[in-house]
Amino acid sequence: MKILVLGSGAGGGFPQWNCNCRQCAGQRIGDVEARARTQSSVAVSADGQSWVLLNASPDIGQQLRGQPQLHPRHGVRDTPIKAVILMDAQIDHVTGLLGMREGPCIDVYATPCVFEDLTTVFPVISVLEHYCGTRWHMLAVAGTQRSASFTVDGFPSLRFTAVAIPGKAPPYSPHRGEQTTGDNIALLIEDLDDGSRLFYSPGLAEVGASELQWMRDADCLLVDGTFWVEDEMLQAGLSRKTAREMGHLPQMGDEARVGMVDVMLTTGARRKVLIHINNSNPILDETSAQRRVLDGHGIEVAYDGMEITL
Ligand code: MLT
Ligand code: MN
Ligand code: ZN
Repeated sequence: MKILVLGSGAGGGFPQWNCNCRQCAGQRIGDVEARARTQSSVAVSADGQSWVLLNASPDIGQQLRGQPQLHPRHGVRDTPIKAVILMDAQIDHVTGLLGMREGPCIDVYATPCVFEDLTTVFPVISVLEHYCGTRWHMLAVAGTQRSASFTVDGFPSLRFTAVAIPGKAPPYSPHRGEQTTGDNIALLIEDLDDGSRLFYSPGLAEVGASELQWMRDADCLLVDGTFWVEDEMLQAGLSRKTAREMGHLPQMGDEARVGMVDVMLTTGARRKVLIHINNSNPILDETSAQRRVLDGHGIEVAYDGMEITL
């Protein structure tokens, strides 16, 4: 299985267009050693020819232009992207569908909750009916059904499992205040040819027993790297929201919960990678003490253009 990181940043990317914080300003002028990052999306392939997008970022145009493996190959109009799987209905994960309107009808894999948000309060899918159209493939994660295995047409050797996880519906969703099963999923992807397994979860609010079990089943973790600490946005004067209020588990734990670093270390995954990094997170600075902590644990920080082969 091949995994291409198209966008490794959280909503807003890095540096964020209107942000003058130490890291964003420092990155712009070259004072902070850090790579720019576009907003959250990855592509997965079994053969390096056909690709499935996991989330579609608002930065999709830039991401596809910069990634030769995803350029058109045959005929006057073409794309190796055969489908899009959505983890939630957040702006940074779905707006890129609009950027695909010039292409063929889009095969969208999403839960009923996400489909509903995208045809009502944030009607990206309804708008696309006036362009390329979409075909909805329902991921049966709803009600008491907490996981669903499925295949994607054209990817016979990959087995996908969508898993309900703790998270937050977007601010515009009627479920924002009270999460409903299917608002947020993680994906376990298994390559049936060689048995390799990826666990992908760019937005993960909590790791309980069932999440930990899914994570322990994976060779590669590509998980929520949004915040280093719970009150990072408050400390930097950027927002009044905590990591918890935004639906993200920080890397460092506190009395209330175990952090993502300790969670990752309890798994035997060969590759442990953080993705969806917010511009406030000190791990963006490659010379930071926090980055050294990750290095010491063998935990990687995803960057745009990163390729992982399992
Ligand atoms: C989040 O995951 O909380 C988002 O990145 C917020 C956003 O897209 O603005
Ligand atoms: Mn996000
Ligand atoms: Zn900033």
